[in-house]
Amino acid sequence: MARQAWLNGVYIAAEEAKISPFDRGFLFADGVYEVTAVFNGRLVDMERHLDRLERSLRELKFGAMPDRQELEQVHRRLVDLNGIDEGYVYLQVTRGAYGGRDFVAPEEPRLTIFMFAEKRALIDTPSARNGLRVVTLPDVRWARRDIKSVGLLAQAMAKTEAKHKGADDAWLVAPDGLVTEGASSNAWIVTKDGEIITRALSNMILAGVTRHALFDALGQRGRKITERSFTVEEARNAAEAFVTAATGLVTPVVEIDGAKLGDGRPGKVTREVQRLYYTAIGADVAKAAPFVDEG
Ligand code: PDD
Repeated sequence: MARQAWLNGVYIAAEEAKISPFDRGFLFADGVYEVTAVFNGRLVDMERHLDRLERSLRELKFGAMPDRQELEQVHRRLVDLNGIDEGYVYLQVTRGAYGGRDFVAPEEPRLTIFMFAEKRALIDTPSARNGLRVVTLPDVRWARRDIKSVGLLAQAMAKTEAKHKGADDAWLVAPDGLVTEGASSNAWIVTKDGEIITRALSNMILAGVTRHALFDALGQRGRKITERSFTVEEARNAAEAFVTAATGLVTPVVEIDGAKLGDGRPGKVTREVQRLYYTAIGADVAKAAPFVDEG
């Protein structure tokens, strides 16, 4: 069966889904999105993703909300229809199409809601095993990064530049020299004393659902996380680093701007964090992620 998507209330073969070129998502990037991980056929933290979606829509004054129960059902159904054991569900909501191009948002929203699901390895991947090499680049995004907007040009360009530089991903840096976050992830460092540090929530970064889950998982173990900003210099000299996102869960970072962290392999604390998170989402670590116990 062709890949099944869902558009405005209708299940449809993904390649047959069509929206108007007048859609404000297309003309103005006037829309928001969520990516929810699927592991063992189960949606990971879907409620938190839907909470964040609703917040994004409120912040952008959409004036209408999709039906939450329907979104939950569609998430589950797309996982089933597409036979997703491990992967993600993508959800996008835009303000809709009005047959013209007016900067001023219309009073009456006509939401366009689109969802699709994709199979993808999240745990046993080369990145999760061996870590990422990142480069730091200027963060040129708008000032409302707490809203999960589909306006992702700065992120796409940063990731493309990182690839051209021979790296795997980009970390973004504010004009004050402090790291904000990864181009599509939250950024974390670990000091030589084993202190785990990540930037505090504000309009400068996205409040990651995976980040939130790690606070829970580490908190239950009595493991402290320090919420503060750090410079590129501090990150380069850190013992370890990692990133969190629905698309990569917990992924080690082994190199920043060409400088190896520690011995250039994923660190001990990072492995512990991976193990905790994988366990929290119901993975059998010995099977799904044996590498976390290697070395
Ligand atoms: N991005 N910061 C940014 C800029 C992101 O784009 C993302 C996720 C995160 C992590 O959020 P979460 O843990 O809720 O996935 C942080 C998604 C996965 C994407 O754009 O593909």
